[in-house]
Amino acid sequence: MSYEAYKVLHVFAVILTLTILGGLALHAANGGGRESNRMGKLTGILHGLGLLLILVFGFGLLARLGTGFPAWVWAKLAIWLVVGASPTVIKRSPGLSPMLLWLLPVLAGAAAWLAVYKPFTG
Ligand code: HEM
Repeated sequence: MSYEAYKVLHVFAVILTLTILGGLALHAANGGGRESNRMGKLTGILHGLGLLLILVFGFGLLARLGTGFPAWVWAKLAIWLVVGASPTVIKRSPGLSPMLLWLLPVLAGAAAWLAVYKPFTG
């Protein structure tokens, strides 16, 4: 698969994952719990799928770039972990949901910045 195809799919997976998280965070911020989320199973599946695809296509991109494993990728992996932990955070601490509604887009923006500017590569 080409570098361009990997990038489109990587960004698609990011959009899918963040769309789901936005829905979950808004639901929780409005006082909704798991029992009142009629899309609970679907959102769980789509979040997990999106997360997996971000990683698969991210490593595909990295292989196409052929630059090894630079430091900025570790920073992106840390952001990926936060994105992955978010449904658990929303479930256990719904009070944090309003904060996640701005923190997650900021983190996603930071992940894009890391990919475009590639800091700490020397
Ligand atoms: C939630 C986490 C992530 C977000 C929001 C994200 C977002 C993005 C975006 C928007 C781009 C496109 C930048 C451009 O226009 O060139 C991109 C590119 C890229 N991402 Fe991610 N990413 C995430 C996680 C990851 C992970 C975990 C990896 C590595 C395994 C990764 C590796 C890459 C690579 C290698 C590129 C291409 C850089 C280039 O073309 O020079 N990303 N990412």
